[in-house]
Amino acid sequence: MEGVIDSVTRDLLTRRPGFDWTVTEFVRVVDARLPPRVFHRHCPELQAAEGPSTPSGVPVHLQLLGSDPTALAANARQARRLGATSLDLNFGCPAKLVNRHDGGASLLRDPARVHAAVAAVHEAVGEAIPVTAKIRLGFSNRRLALSCALAAQDGGARQLVVHGRTRDEGYRPPAHWEWIGRIRHRLDIPVVANGDIWTLEDYWKARTLSGCRDVMLGRGALADPWLAPRIRHWLLTGERLPETHWADRAAVIAEYAALQRATLPPRVVISLVKQWLNQMRARDTEATRRFQALKRITDLGALLEGLEAPASSPVPTSTRRPLQPA
Ligand SMILES: Cc1cc2nc3c(=O)[nH]c(=O)nc-3n(C[C@H](O)[C@H](O)[C@H](O)COP(=O)(O)O)c2cc1C
Repeated sequence: MEGVIDSVTRDLLTRRPGFDWTVTEFVRVVDARLPPRVFHRHCPELQAAEGPSTPSGVPVHLQLLGSDPTALAANARQARRLGATSLDLNFGCPAKLVNRHDGGASLLRDPARVHAAVAAVHEAVGEAIPVTAKIRLGFSNRRLALSCALAAQDGGARQLVVHGRTRDEGYRPPAHWEWIGRIRHRLDIPVVANGDIWTLEDYWKARTLSGCRDVMLGRGALADPWLAPRIRHWLLTGERLPETHWADRAAVIAEYAALQRATLPPRVVISLVKQWLNQMRARDTEATRRFQALKRITDLGALLEGLEAPASSPVPTSTRRPLQPA
């Protein structure tokens, strides 16, 4: 997820069992072949000796976003040369800027363009590297949902993730899991359901309504880093893990800050920490309380102290705690 799930987040989220694979933020392809540093920035895991996976061994798929088949193919070859083992194509991004420049969900208005993009990448990398695609249900309406899904499949996609909303629906609930089921029904490749899975109950409803065996988690995994482990544990044992305590959430963010601080200046880390805290607000009243209390803090040490203070104590808003220099 662009701007929110980088290699550090992928590392933290995959430390406990639950994820089968992860995806990079999209690499934006316009008309040129991008230099290796762009791929390495989006996917530092490419440089790992054992291939692109998180430190705990969960594969990382590289995502490309673009509309020009020739440029996509050139960048797919570049990604393969750099060690990518799986390529995902983004046809879901709803951002106005991206869509104005003919990328992401804008291609869903014309299934032939989805087909051309997938086929070009598939032909460029051959069978050795699986090409997958991610779509929404359409741009303004769902009329072309099935055609786009079939176009991706016919182009050579080995798997399709479907976010159960149109582009115009943005992130407004609900995600139409039953529509994902209609698509799954007609495709031969595996279809993965995505959108609005925040809890174990959502997971089960999404699976039941879509009929998909697998789901993709986005914001829900940031809101509760134990969501994937919770699902995995329930599938394996039938038992529910307890609710995630605030102290555990805070510990994840504190570790995130420490890892980011190794390469980034404090002011950037502060905004990243607040961003993750903001994501946690979606499902946790304690996160909301902390966010309100801490959102104006400009000192990283004080911010982390406020995050980690016991839930019963008032959240400090001005204390200072020096952080280790990078
Ligand atoms: C901030 C943000 C950035 C995102 N960036 C990407 C991206 O780079 N590639 C992608 O395929 N989807 C991206 N998405 C969409 C998510 O992967 C997912 O499809 C969407 O959020 C719905 O799932 P969720 O309700 O589980 O979050 C992004 C979503 C958000 C909120």
